[in-house]
Parts: sequence; structure tokens; C-alpha cells
Amino acid sequence: MSAQIKTGQIETVQVNLAERSYSIHVGSGLINTAGDYIAPYLKEARTIIVTDSNVEKHWLAPLQNSLNSHGISSEAIVMEPGEKTKNFTNLEQLVCKLLNAQIERNTVVIALGGGVIGDLTGMAAAIILRGIDFIQIPTSLLSQVDSSVGGKTGINTPQGKNLAGAFHQPKLVLCDTDALKTLPIRELRAGYAELVKYGLIADAPFFDWLEKNGERVLAGDQDAQRHAIVKSCQAKADVVSEDERETGRRALLNFGHTFGHALEAEVGYSGTLLHGEAVAIGSVMALSISERIGICPAGRADRLRAHFAKTNIGYNLHGNAGTDWAAEKLLDHMRLDKKVADAKLVFILARDIGDAFITNEVNDSDILATLNEALEQSGN
Ligand code: GLY
Repeated sequence: MSAQIKTGQIETVQVNLAERSYSIHVGSGLINTAGDYIAPYLKEARTIIVTDSNVEKHWLAPLQNSLNSHGISSEAIVMEPGEKTKNFTNLEQLVCKLLNAQIERNTVVIALGGGVIGDLTGMAAAIILRGIDFIQIPTSLLSQVDSSVGGKTGINTPQGKNLAGAFHQPKLVLCDTDALKTLPIRELRAGYAELVKYGLIADAPFFDWLEKNGERVLAGDQDAQRHAIVKSCQAKADVVSEDERETGRRALLNFGHTFGHALEAEVGYSGTLLHGEAVAIGSVMALSISERIGICPAGRADRLRAHFAKTNIGYNLHGNAGTDWAAEKLLDHMRLDKKVADAKLVFILARDIGDAFITNEVNDSDILATLNEALEQSGN
């Protein structure tokens, strides 16, 4: 189990992976004081920061100032924001830029940004010079509660999402709730779906808590945000400590993702649908198919819809009119996704809220019926 330590307003979750163990610090002011946390991990007085042009505006200078105050020099590589950046071309460019910056085996790279920057930088760190250390400073809610923790790095390919990648654990994760203040509300809402996921998978009381406090999280209440991020990181740390390489239980973290990735693939990973938005829709579909095949009591998908409606999280495809959604095409995308075992699709279903399980025993007819029902409800 992950340990949790509270020091003032900073809480720390530990990911236990023997010599690859690391800490996740959560709270306000972490970027402004990042040098205090990062300095012990550096083997030379310099680092390279990879960020995107949105995050750069708000958080690059505070990070560099804090590093400077510890005598650490840093240079920045600034990428284009957006999911489309996570491709082979940008990976190659990033690796070349890092090599041009005279990177050495001792150099530690910092990923300052959301899931795209974390995944891309982590993958570059995994392969450059056969692997160097990296630190995650996730600035989106989605990356704070999911992608920055657990060592999954990767890029998308034309065949699907995250189909090329590596497991490469960070040395340290700093989740600064201040960064959420400069996050566009659409992104905050998208990340919220990943928070809810932890309640749906194995923590019904956390889902209850979100039903009462979700609006505080989205309104920027820092105590509520810290609590929600710590709960999520703890849940993830426990799973990752037990099943780092997803040979079993870790797949639970893909709740809502089989449907969600198909939706993302259909729009070509464009800004039409953010990853978290796709996960929100996919989570409702996962509960709805669980009800359809009779393993989950009726009303659970409606309970999730009600929560998403209350917190202004889109849970149907209304907002994505213009996309010609078709159930058969979405099923084709699922077949290309990596969540396939013995040619059967792998789904994370639920016996109830807080009781998810992994199965590859789902019929195409139930998948198509669930997709068609969702498309009809969305007026498509
Ligand atoms: N986001 C799912 C995982 O890290 O396993």
C-alpha cells in the first residue's frame, strides 16, 4: 500500500517499486519552491525543461527562478500544445533537441505540462542514451491524477492511442494545485472524469465524496482539490505498486477507456474531444453496458449522468455534432486498440459503483447496442 505523509499543506504519496520508488507531493506552491524538492535528485547543476507554449506563459519562469535560487541552470524546450503533438515526428524532434543540448546520462529532464508533455518527455527520457532520469511536474488535473503517475510513457500512432511507448517511472512528481488556476475550465472538467474513475473502480465512498464536493474541486477550492488528487494518486500508486506492467489489476485504470479511446480515434485525436471528455462519455457507457448485460443494478449509469450534469461534465456526444459517429466504426477502432487479448476486446465493467472488474466476455451485439443507445440519446 502507498504511504501518505502530511506536512503542512503538502501531502505526499509514495509509489513503492523497490529501487524505482518515488514520491508524489501534492499541494499549493510546489512550482514556486520546486528547486527545494528537485535539487536532491540532480547529479549536475543543470536540467532541461520540456513544456508547451500554454504552460510556458504561466509556469516556466517560476520554475526556472526556483531552480536558479538553488544554483541550477535550466534551458527550456517548448512544444506545441495538444494531443496531436504526441507523435513520432515530435518525439524525433524532441530527442534531437535534447541531444543538441549536450544531454548526458546524468542529466535529469523535467516534464512541465499536461499529459501530452509528460508522455512525450517520458518516452524521450526512456530511449535517449538508453534511458535517463526525469521528473514530472503535471499542470493539468488529468495529468496530476493519472498520467504523471505510474510510468506509462508513449505517443499515438495512426493505428491508435499510446500504441508506441515504454514503462519509465519518474524520479519525483510535483502536483501543484496552483497550476489548476491557470488551466482552462474545459481542461479542468476533462481531468475531473479521471478523478471520478477512481471512485467508480474501487472506492464507492470517494464517489459519494465527489457527489458532495465535486463542485468545490471544480470551483478551485484548494483543500478539496488536494484531497481529491491525493485520493486519486494513492489509488493509482496502490495499483501500480502491485502491477506496474499491467499484467492484471492495472487494467482497471482503463475504466471507460475502451469506449473513450474509440471516440478519440474517430476524431483523429483532435481538439474536438479531449481525452478526459472521451473518458467521461466512456465511463457512462461502461456502466450502461454493465447494466445491459445484467451484472450491475439498474440506475448506476443514471447516477453517474446526474453527477456529471451537476458538475457540468459532458457525458454524451451532443457537443461533438459534426462528427459522423457510427457504432460500427467505433467498434472497428476498439479492435485496433491495444486492449485486445486473444482477439477479444477487453472491457472494464462494473458490478456496482466502486466494484469494477476486467473481462473479455462482451458480445459485439451488446457493444453495438450500447453505442447506438448513446448515439440516439445524443441526437446523433
Ligand atoms: N492511465 C492508466 C494507467 O496508467 O495504467
